[in-house]
Amino acid sequence: MLLQVLHYYGYPSEWSRHLKMAAIPTATFCVLRRGLATRAFQETSTYRRRSLQDRILRVDHAGELGADRIYAGQMAVLGKTSVGPVIQEMWDQEKGHLKKFEELLPKYRARPSMLLPFWNIAGYALGAGTALLGKESAMACTVAVEEVIANHYNSQIRELVADDPEANKELLDVLKTFRDDEQHHHDTGMAHDAPKAPFYKYLKETIKVGCLGAIWLAERL
Ligand SMILES: [Fe+2]
Ligand SMILES: [Fe+2]
Repeated sequence: MLLQVLHYYGYPSEWSRHLKMAAIPTATFCVLRRGLATRAFQETSTYRRRSLQDRILRVDHAGELGADRIYAGQMAVLGKTSVGPVIQEMWDQEKGHLKKFEELLPKYRARPSMLLPFWNIAGYALGAGTALLGKESAMACTVAVEEVIANHYNSQIRELVADDPEANKELLDVLKTFRDDEQHHHDTGMAHDAPKAPFYKYLKETIKVGCLGAIWLAERL
């Protein structure tokens, strides 16, 4: 088009030839630059997705280990009481959650938390400690922990959807199922007299703050 316009206005034919010669390397450069830019973008979004998945898998694996240990601690104290079967049922589901994240960590090449031995001990101590205060306190602990975990799963689901629902489909399916399980554990705790625990409100809020701190740490370490 430009060349036709130049011809129309009587520019010398050599100009046209020079412009044609310049057009070839210019077009090649544009194609190459566009290709490189696309590649760079893909690498950036892939990198971002891998970082997101790495963080999510690390904290969720640590969280499920902690949950497994909490119910182990509760069972050690209350296993032979009327709430034993209820706790056992929730514990069995936590074992399934933990097993799933143990499969997903190597699959996504995610780094596990460096604080796993700490989550192991802290979870057991929290479960056994609240169970020693009575079954209502154990259930209050369940309500607090499961409320934080269910909310945390929800925020992770939103992050994965915002990134790419198709690329994150496997993780989204897992998180949605587990979020529903945790919500069910929360409701079970409420149905088994959690609000009747001594200092229920303070106990619950203290445990929730501890869980939020643990999540913050496990995402990073
Ligand atoms: Fe769980
Ligand atoms: Fe749970």
